[in-house]
Amino acid sequence: MSTEAPKAAGAATRPKVTTRTFRQMKKDGQPITMLTAYDYPTALAQERAGVDAILVGDSLGMVVLGYPNTLPVTMEDMLHHCKAVARGAQTPMLIGDLPFMSYQVSVQQAVANAGRFLQEASMDAVKLEGGQERAEAVRQIVAAGIPVMGHLGLTPQSVNTLGGFRPQARTKSAARKLIEDALALQEAGAFSVVLESVPDRLAEWISKKLSIPTIGIGAGVGCDGQVLVTHDLLGLFDRFTPKFVKKYADLHTTMVDAFGVYIQEVQARSFPMDEHSVAIKDEAWDALLKELGD
Ligand code: KIV
Repeated sequence: MSTEAPKAAGAATRPKVTTRTFRQMKKDGQPITMLTAYDYPTALAQERAGVDAILVGDSLGMVVLGYPNTLPVTMEDMLHHCKAVARGAQTPMLIGDLPFMSYQVSVQQAVANAGRFLQEASMDAVKLEGGQERAEAVRQIVAAGIPVMGHLGLTPQSVNTLGGFRPQARTKSAARKLIEDALALQEAGAFSVVLESVPDRLAEWISKKLSIPTIGIGAGVGCDGQVLVTHDLLGLFDRFTPKFVKKYADLHTTMVDAFGVYIQEVQARSFPMDEHSVAIKDEAWDALLKELGD
């Protein structure tokens, strides 16, 4: 097997996706596509498929590391996986997710940790959860030259205050608060905002009101772009599937079937066959046996 990383097919032909591309796509009414990735082969496949942005989400904690929620994910976990993704994809915008407690303690902490994503892990931007209460952190991260994507609605790092993974902003006052939060993020300099699990009419209204693009997940077709957790889309994560997920494949079943066939073939000694084995010339083998007296 070659040790050289294969180059992504579309990488040379398509210009790098930047915050300017996001702005232009919103202006042109062209939907922005975003997917999560946590490793090199997935990033490579997404680059080849032509996705606009890759989010190395802290959903990593649930779909890759097996935690019940995203709270245990650390900066070191995130940076490790961001580096792998950056080796696989260069054209899409690469966005690193600031994990729980990496930006809430102080604005200084937020800026320093955001910087690590660009400096150590080749990300192009960061994402953080929260609205008005995070506006100052967003402002200072942007002032440091780091593009910020906001995240409103169902914000998984607040699962304990939200009382579970449940749809948000379904009352008049909660909807109003979401609008104010989105405007605050835009005013603070965010280049885009994720709207997760909120009513479709509200998400569409906010998308029209904001000059920055919204990226929806469970927020209807009226957003400027869409994101899905790749393990949900591929059917790799079967613990639970939110209503808003569309499964484009059932790779969990494909994996179980492939592992099962492998186990059967090993047990039946029908794998490996000659084409999977290394040969030695008769002359060398016979000489060796002679030497060994066998
Ligand atoms: O961590 C993540 O994957 C996310 C997406 C669901 C937007 O935040």
